[in-house]
Amino acid sequence: MATRSYPSKLIILFIVFILIPNSSQLQSSQAWALLRIRRLLNYPPFLSSWNIYADICNMEQSPFVTIVCYEESIAQLHIVGNESSPPLPRNFSINSLFTTLAGLPNLKVLSLRSLGLWGRLPAKISRFSSLEIVNMSSNFLYGYIPHQVSFLKNLQTLVLDHNMFSGRVPNWLSSLPLLTFLSLKSNNLTGHLPHSLSELKTLRVLILSSNSLSGEVPDLRPLKNLQELHLEDNSLGPQFPNVGHKLVSLTLQKNRFAGSLPSDVTSYYLLQQLDVSSNRFIGPFPPSLLTLPYVQYLNISGNRFTGMLFQNMSCSDDLESVDLSANLLTGIIPACLISNYNNRVVLYSENCLVTKDQSQHPYTYCQNQALAVGIQPHKQKKASAGKAIRLTSLIGGVIVGAIVICLLILVAIRRLNAKRAKERPPRRLIEHASYGYSSKLLADARYISQTKKLGALGVPAYRSFSLEELEAATDNFATTAFMGEGSHGQLYKGMLKDGSLVVIRCLKLKSGHNSQNYNRHIELISKLRHRHLVCALGHCFEYNTDDSTVNRLFLIFEYVPNGTLRSSISEGVAGQKLTWSQRIAAAIGVARGIQFLHSGIIPGLFANDLKTTNILLDPTLVAKISSYNLPVLSENVKTEHGDKVDIYDFGVILLEIISGRPITSQCDVEMVKDELHASITTDGAPGRSIVDPVVPRASCDASLKTVTDICIGCLSMDPVERPSIGDVLWNLQFAAQVEDGWRGNSISSEESPLSPSQAN
Ligand SMILES: *[C@@H]1O[C@H](CO)[C@@H](O)[C@H](O)[C@H]1NC(C)=O
Ligand SMILES: *[C@@H]1O[C@H](CO)[C@@H](O)[C@H](O)[C@H]1NC(C)=O
Ligand SMILES: *[C@@H]1O[C@H](CO)[C@@H](O)[C@H](O)[C@H]1NC(C)=O
Ligand SMILES: *[C@@H]1O[C@H](CO)[C@@H](O)[C@H](O)[C@H]1NC(C)=O
Ligand SMILES: *[C@@H]1O[C@H](CO)[C@@H](O)[C@H](O)[C@H]1NC(C)=O
Ligand SMILES: *[C@@H]1O[C@H](CO)[C@@H](O)[C@H](O)[C@H]1NC(C)=O
Repeated sequence: MATRSYPSKLIILFIVFILIPNSSQLQSSQAWALLRIRRLLNYPPFLSSWNIYADICNMEQSPFVTIVCYEESIAQLHIVGNESSPPLPRNFSINSLFTTLAGLPNLKVLSLRSLGLWGRLPAKISRFSSLEIVNMSSNFLYGYIPHQVSFLKNLQTLVLDHNMFSGRVPNWLSSLPLLTFLSLKSNNLTGHLPHSLSELKTLRVLILSSNSLSGEVPDLRPLKNLQELHLEDNSLGPQFPNVGHKLVSLTLQKNRFAGSLPSDVTSYYLLQQLDVSSNRFIGPFPPSLLTLPYVQYLNISGNRFTGMLFQNMSCSDDLESVDLSANLLTGIIPACLISNYNNRVVLYSENCLVTKDQSQHPYTYCQNQALAVGIQPHKQKKASAGKAIRLTSLIGGVIVGAIVICLLILVAIRRLNAKRAKERPPRRLIEHASYGYSSKLLADARYISQTKKLGALGVPAYRSFSLEELEAATDNFATTAFMGEGSHGQLYKGMLKDGSLVVIRCLKLKSGHNSQNYNRHIELISKLRHRHLVCALGHCFEYNTDDSTVNRLFLIFEYVPNGTLRSSISEGVAGQKLTWSQRIAAAIGVARGIQFLHSGIIPGLFANDLKTTNILLDPTLVAKISSYNLPVLSENVKTEHGDKVDIYDFGVILLEIISGRPITSQCDVEMVKDELHASITTDGAPGRSIVDPVVPRASCDASLKTVTDICIGCLSMDPVERPSIGDVLWNLQFAAQVEDGWRGNSISSEESPLSPSQAN
């Protein structure tokens, strides 16, 4: 040890010496807190490895316990018990538990699930002002949810499912400025929903299922970010909730909703899941629900929907499950539903459909029931039915007259349905284009499914590394490990103890700062996790000997083995150049990465030095951006049109993808762009002399044209004219679908409509 020649070794020893009292005090106070928590939880066997000497920040993780530290201090505590844990014994005190938790001052994520906790949530929860995520599901907590929770100004996620909370849904929720995810499923909440719900502007997910809530749902249209609303199994109603059109998932089953569906449900163009089953809905079933672009699950069973179905109706390819059972539908089940495409589940018993099975009522049953529904004095809201009511009252009880009118209306509705079915173009992707859905919103829908998947990236949790660890990984930063030098420092390749490969970036920092100055940056870097980014796994500071300021910062990244996008386009991986579909898929990946950098994190990162040599491919050819604008290196202020710098660079990437050769100078860009532009204006299609021969003829014309158009748009000289990243993404996805459609494949996968493996 002592003979090592690296001065940094000495520095570290020195620093360790200086820091020992401080960090060990912190460590031991936290270790004591954990031991107390273990005692309060009545010594569950899975915590038996905790002891006072354990290095709490580097303990082995298990399905039951996860601890994540930030700067040696516990930032995340997850303890999860067995699913049906009984309540803890009588001497358990939730007050003591929270007093003990207060010994972890930097706690941001607290997850204590299925541990048998019981009692009232203590008022002192207000002290945990740094909390961002709280999940205390599946315990035995009862009483009101204390209003002190409203002091947790950083709270983003609150999950208290499967407890015994009572009282109303709190009306102070609107004072949580960052709340995005609220779930209070399976409690004993009663009464009406507070009107203040409509002030939760940041809310994305609201889950209040399985309580005893009643009354009308407040107007949720102001919640512009709301994507999921789950209200099933309550007594809410009768009016259909007023929600924004960006909803992705809506479940209302087992409530008291009545009347007919509002005509604008069919304009919820992002909808993936709709469940209105087991309510008291009446009126026509809108068949256009079957053709919404993303709809996967549709359940209208157990209502009294009327209307005639036709064999030739169309339905979305994404539909996985459709339940029309126990309504008053007539006609023939559409062929597209029963083709057993993709193992789709379709249920339709107990209607009056013409089928061979025994499960249907005779036609007259639905006819009579529909008439009965038609003259129910229930539904002033809807135009057609409202007219019927007014007319019946005019006629003054002449029931025969009413029946005649209702019959007429029914006929009219059927005609209308048939006409709508006729007008509907057969393919989903045509619908995107012709109905002009805002492409940004469509991209949003993809964004949601992506953020949902962030947890499943397969990248280990962010942590801090020791210098010794990095030296071991790179054989003391040996020249054999040296990969190159970037504008901000050297890159080394290393292998960690567990055998995983990493890339270590050494950044020389401005002198005179201590590590605290970089906390904010490090925190942001730790959040930069996305399928299409080369993610940071952790960091390590190297300190100065004399004043304990920071000298260098090492950032440890995942190693992405399959080379750069440029080499796989122009040279090919193992002699195999990327196919056209694979190129589109890679471009979509890069665009998603850019979208995440711009708007998936706050503050966004712009000017990311995007070029094909900075895009890496993983073994399954997923494209990952490696060069993004690291917060440490610059102040990331979004200047006017700052996002459009990346759009221009993306245009250059597309240019390489199309032409199949490296484009390295501004002059090159202009030349190839002008050639493309000229051939499009004269021939209506990109000239084959410019396009990489790998792009097969004819097959790809439509997608090639789309990609070329977007490429030229991105390269506009005026930043204002460049498309938004949402537009880019949408157009690329469109190109992918056209290309895929041409190859006769199905468009199914939600996350990556064209991962290269599928496209082959
Ligand atoms: C609760 O009582 C049990 C014995 O019934 C005992 O083992 C445990 O230490 C007590 N827990 C606390 C927190 O006092
Ligand atoms: C859960 O139950 C299994 C077997 O029933 C047991 O081995 C395990 O220790 C229990 N874990 C917890 C968290 O209680
Ligand atoms: C909260 O905990 C429950 C139960 O363990 C789990 O299923 C759920 O995914 C968690 N929710 C969040 C948002 O973390
Ligand atoms: C739920 O609340 C109702 C009314 O307050 C009460 O009668 C019922 O016992 C409670 N149920 C549970 C499981 O606590
Ligand atoms: C539709 O909803 C009903 C009742 O809410 C449920 O029983 C049925 O299983 C659901 N259908 C499907 C296909 O999930
Ligand atoms: C669908 O079938 C109905 C009745 O069989 C017919 O009236 C209608 O024109 C057809 N629509 C289309 C689009 O073919």
